[in-house]
Amino acid sequence: MNIMALRNICTYPDPVLRTKTARVGTIDNATNRLIDDMIETMHAAPGVGLAANQVGVSLQLAVIDLSQVEDETRRHPLLVLINPEFLSMEGSVTEEEGCLSLPEYTESVKRAAKVKVRALDRSGKPYELEAQGLLAKALQHEIDHLNGLLFIDRLSPLKKNIFKRRFRKTSSQTE
Ligand code: NI
Repeated sequence: MNIMALRNICTYPDPVLRTKTARVGTIDNATNRLIDDMIETMHAAPGVGLAANQVGVSLQLAVIDLSQVEDETRRHPLLVLINPEFLSMEGSVTEEEGCLSLPEYTESVKRAAKVKVRALDRSGKPYELEAQGLLAKALQHEIDHLNGLLFIDRLSPLKKNIFKRRFRKTSSQTE
């Protein structure tokens, strides 16, 4: 039996988003349940990626699913990344990003154009992945999350201040 459940997505300025996550030791039933829940939560949001600390679990674990946003000729399968690390980064590209933890805010972010990542899949098997385009962006965004970084941390000081001012304004309106 496979019972999945939606988890609550933590939003800025929740401190769990600012905490570097811990490596996954053993992949047990709780880890597998977390992965299933994260996939369901990402799809329901809807979003194309989700890191474990976005659902309040401070572990090096993320899921990415671009299948609904990529065209059929280059659809990547759903990815589970456990303890991911970059092996290389090349070039640079600036594109619009959003994040489920920063609702209703998007901004252009400078990222590497091409990346190579090593991670474990959900069975604990290591794999390597080379990516560019949308997948390269998603990998960098999610691995940033696992290091306690949000895409606003990649903005120029000016743009970050604009975000903070706007955030203070909207949060004081809802209080
Ligand atoms: Ni995000």
